[in-house]
Amino acid sequence: MNITPNQNEKTFSKDVLLVTKTDKQGKITYANRSFLKIVMMSEEELIGQPHNIIRHPDMPKIIFKYLWQYLKFGTEVHAYVKNICADGSFYWVLANVTPSYSRVKSVEKIIGFHSSRRQASLTALEVIVPLYKKLLDAEALGGINESEKIISAILHDKGMDYEEYILSI
Ligand SMILES: Cc1cc2nc3c(=O)[nH]c(=O)nc-3n(C[C@H](O)[C@H](O)[C@H](O)COP(=O)(O)O)c2cc1C
Repeated sequence: MNITPNQNEKTFSKDVLLVTKTDKQGKITYANRSFLKIVMMSEEELIGQPHNIIRHPDMPKIIFKYLWQYLKFGTEVHAYVKNICADGSFYWVLANVTPSYSRVKSVEKIIGFHSSRRQASLTALEVIVPLYKKLLDAEALGGINESEKIISAILHDKGMDYEEYILSI
């Protein structure tokens, strides 16, 4: 889907949860009604598609690198994400992304992932928007290695890992 981004921001109530599930490769297997409504897409358009179908070009690559590192390790992770809607508008969320396990004869294995998202708070976005801009500019100049250096320096300075930092914002 080729969507041209615009500057229209959508917000939603703090009681609303946007939920999707994916297979192990990140292909969407489920989306709840609130998610379908905000992205303005149908189940037919979304199910079976890779989750980057709603990736916004303002999202730095490094954020997804951290996300997948945690997931592949079998751990939940939080991330601030700007997503695009079918009409080019956008919305900000704080996503909690978690592996789904199946347990057969006491052997656990990851069978997919799910994400529950809430509206990102204005106070968090005061930190995240300029940070992502800096990361994106760094990636445009020197690729993901440059944005990784910026995040690593922040985490080193705060004495936190990525997940701790995100939850502290
Ligand atoms: C459960 C789950 C939910 C995800 N939700 C989003 C999302 O809302 N927006 C997004 O851009 N990427 C999301 N991703 C990450 C995408 O799979 C992908 O890594 C990201 O869009 C970057 O895509 P790219 O590396 O092809 O550019 C999610 C991944 C998983 C496993």
